[in-house]
Amino acid sequence: MSGSSSGTFPGDMSTDRSAGFADRMTRTMPGGDTRSSVYYKPFPLTMASGSGCRLHDVDGNEYIDLLNNFTSLIHGHARPEITEALAAQAELGTVFGAPTEAQLSLSSIICDRVESVELLRFTNSGSEAVLMAVRAARAHTGRSSIIKLEGGYHGSWEQVQMELARGAGPGVPEQVMSMVSSVQMNDLEGLGRAVEAVGDDLAAIIMEPVMGEGVLVADTDFLREARRLADRSGALLIFDEVISFRLGQGGYQGVAGVRPDLTTLGKVIGGGMPVGAFGGSSEVMSGFDPRNGMLEHAGTYNGNAMTMVAGEKALELFDRDAQERVDRLGERLTKELDRILVDSRLDARAIGIGSLAHLHFDTEGALPERFDDLHLESETLVRFHRAALAEGVFIATRGIMSMSTAMDEGDVDEALERLARTVRRVENDLGI
Ligand SMILES: Cc1ncc(COP(=O)(O)O)c(C=O)c1O
Repeated sequence: MSGSSSGTFPGDMSTDRSAGFADRMTRTMPGGDTRSSVYYKPFPLTMASGSGCRLHDVDGNEYIDLLNNFTSLIHGHARPEITEALAAQAELGTVFGAPTEAQLSLSSIICDRVESVELLRFTNSGSEAVLMAVRAARAHTGRSSIIKLEGGYHGSWEQVQMELARGAGPGVPEQVMSMVSSVQMNDLEGLGRAVEAVGDDLAAIIMEPVMGEGVLVADTDFLREARRLADRSGALLIFDEVISFRLGQGGYQGVAGVRPDLTTLGKVIGGGMPVGAFGGSSEVMSGFDPRNGMLEHAGTYNGNAMTMVAGEKALELFDRDAQERVDRLGERLTKELDRILVDSRLDARAIGIGSLAHLHFDTEGALPERFDDLHLESETLVRFHRAALAEGVFIATRGIMSMSTAMDEGDVDEALERLARTVRRVENDLGI
């Protein structure tokens, strides 16, 4: 293999049909894609189908899917119970501009499982859920400012952009960004200072208890301190559990035992269909009650029946046993992959929690603890990603991985063998 860093696929991969699609797609979509996060050089491979934990591209290559659409497919692809529920609902109609029983079922499952969520609203994405949660916090407190974690991803809108340190970005008014500040995860003193600095304009502290970028886990003390500081300053605490919900039946907040005022959800709760939800105390959420609330929340496809039935089935199947099984698979993958990396000539580590894992490069052997420690744009990671594709493993370009219930121990063995071969490819590629 040669030239992977300059943006070509390894020579032993067949990618002709994907190349043809990529060429045509650039004529209708910028960069030939409709989602910045799935782009990679020389072009993203076009997928044809998925089944269980396997993905197939249009050239007939098969991959073990460790990306699972960025952690959303908790049951992998085309889980029969979910496809059956979708097919049955499609016959009955997809969306009605009216409440459905399926909305009742899915909202009840979530409210039963997540103690802090007394009332919730559905959206079509996690980004919208965060947008609405922030709006709810501002309306409830009558304040404007928010504090987030540096590197925390909450969707593609300006005020919650991942890295505030990088500046507002083109087209974003400074005024908008002046209402947001960020601190490093687990920096208790930094959080205290930020709350102090914002003063009585603080509407909300928003954080992922487990940050998708890097799979960095918040210390329980840090979450408790955020709770304490929010209470002291009269702000709301929002946990974005779009990714971390899969780590406990009641989300990571249930594991940590810290209760936020508002929670945002997405990904796994839609069973593979577009989804988001935000919810929390009835006191805050009743602002959306049209009988007496002042807050508008519309959305043509909110709570559409297809998403609802897929989500209901997905959560029914994601019971405690299923969760513990998938957590064990993830823990094994992380541990054994880390051993492979430590024993290799690459400067790389794997970290994880439960069914989530993350690859880290250029760490000088250390396990990263803060967002500042991450090298998400590492050149070796770019090579690794491309070599993994050649070995039939599908991961995120930034290194996040997740398990699905479609996997068993044999799939983990196979993934580890393929990842060990990936490591050897990269070593050869680098000539080390
Ligand atoms: C923690 C978190 N919040 C919000 C979002 C945005 O969700 P969506 O992509 O559905 O808009 C994501 C997406 O990856 C996420 O990881």
